[in-house]
Amino acid sequence: MSSNYIYFDHNSTTPMDSRVRNVMLEFMDSSFGNTASRHSLGTTASEAVESARIQIADLIGVEKKQIFFTSGGTESNNLIIKGFGLSESPGKILISGIEHPCIKKPANSLSRMGWDVIKIPVKKTGVIDLEWLEQKTLEEDVKLLSVMLVNNETGVFQPIETIAKIASKAGVFFHTDAVQAIGKVPVNFEKLGVQAMSISAHKLNGPKGVGALILDKRASINPLIEGGGHEDGLRSGTLNVPGIVGFGKSCELARERIKLLSESSKGLRVFLEKKLVDMGATIFGEGERRIPNTSYFAIPAVVGETLVMALDSAGFAVSSGAACSSNEDGPSEVLKAMGIDEDIALGAVRVSFGPDNTRAEVEKFSTQLENIIKNFRSMNAVAI
Ligand SMILES: Cc1ncc(COP(=O)(O)O)c(C=O)c1O
Repeated sequence: MSSNYIYFDHNSTTPMDSRVRNVMLEFMDSSFGNTASRHSLGTTASEAVESARIQIADLIGVEKKQIFFTSGGTESNNLIIKGFGLSESPGKILISGIEHPCIKKPANSLSRMGWDVIKIPVKKTGVIDLEWLEQKTLEEDVKLLSVMLVNNETGVFQPIETIAKIASKAGVFFHTDAVQAIGKVPVNFEKLGVQAMSISAHKLNGPKGVGALILDKRASINPLIEGGGHEDGLRSGTLNVPGIVGFGKSCELARERIKLLSESSKGLRVFLEKKLVDMGATIFGEGERRIPNTSYFAIPAVVGETLVMALDSAGFAVSSGAACSSNEDGPSEVLKAMGIDEDIALGAVRVSFGPDNTRAEVEKFSTQLENIIKNFRSMNAVAI
């Protein structure tokens, strides 16, 4: 990748911080022990894992025993949905229509086991319909509710604390997918009032392939991976010590910079969106509370995919939607669930900033974007 290439796709993944890589190296090299071993190499590894647990716990306001390591957000979401489904007799599950596929698909698997999976309607603004939810949770047999904290495409927050009160009143177990929120804005598990939460390291400058499920003390979830009884029997398998140590470090670093990151990202977004509005763009979730680093927009009569390719050639990495599900064709499922017209949704492009992005980069981006659009229009090549 050229050093002039500008990365604006941090909701997809983030570059690993060199300080994270440095702490991981020791655990790939001299301190390679298995946490289950009784000798000193094993003890070194298990002490490092416990320190990482504290670093993560400190970022999200939990006790370290509430953290269960997994291979990432996808596994954490599968574990909570299927693990809950296996621990209870079938009933109703409520999930929002804008959840990540790693919530939707395990929920669909449960429907084959007799569970009734019901989608919570989402308004055009990107926020779920709270009145509908309040009524629905009072129905008989609603057992599990999963609503994400921040949407990966729009960046829109769901009112998790209010939803938690609704769930608690109805006695429904409530999980939130916080993968897109941690490290970008302060997240406090207790304050949210949920019983379970999924997080992942690679969204906050940590390594790929490591994450965690956070559980309330009362939760009883069936394991999906059984074996040696690691992670209190909830997730067996030799622990990914370098990954976990890196995850811990990335949380410690995020804690130090979170306020600054949130303010600087917002400044970049305000600047960018002014330019986008001048170009006639629709900004999805505009006016709602959004994660500061994310702008999701469509330029009239310009196909998102085509624009992403042109921007890549011009030296900018952005996304035309959810990178995790970009192997699926057609307009974004999230925008569909929000009731956005297909011709507008096909134009969707997401820009997501990280801690190292600068105002000069956003200025360069806006100028290039304007040029590309002018070019497209003059060629009249990409009308939807
Ligand atoms: C909201 C959300 N949940 C879950 C995931 C999956 O996390 P992971 O890549 O760690 O499996 C993603 C990935 O982009 C995401 O955006």
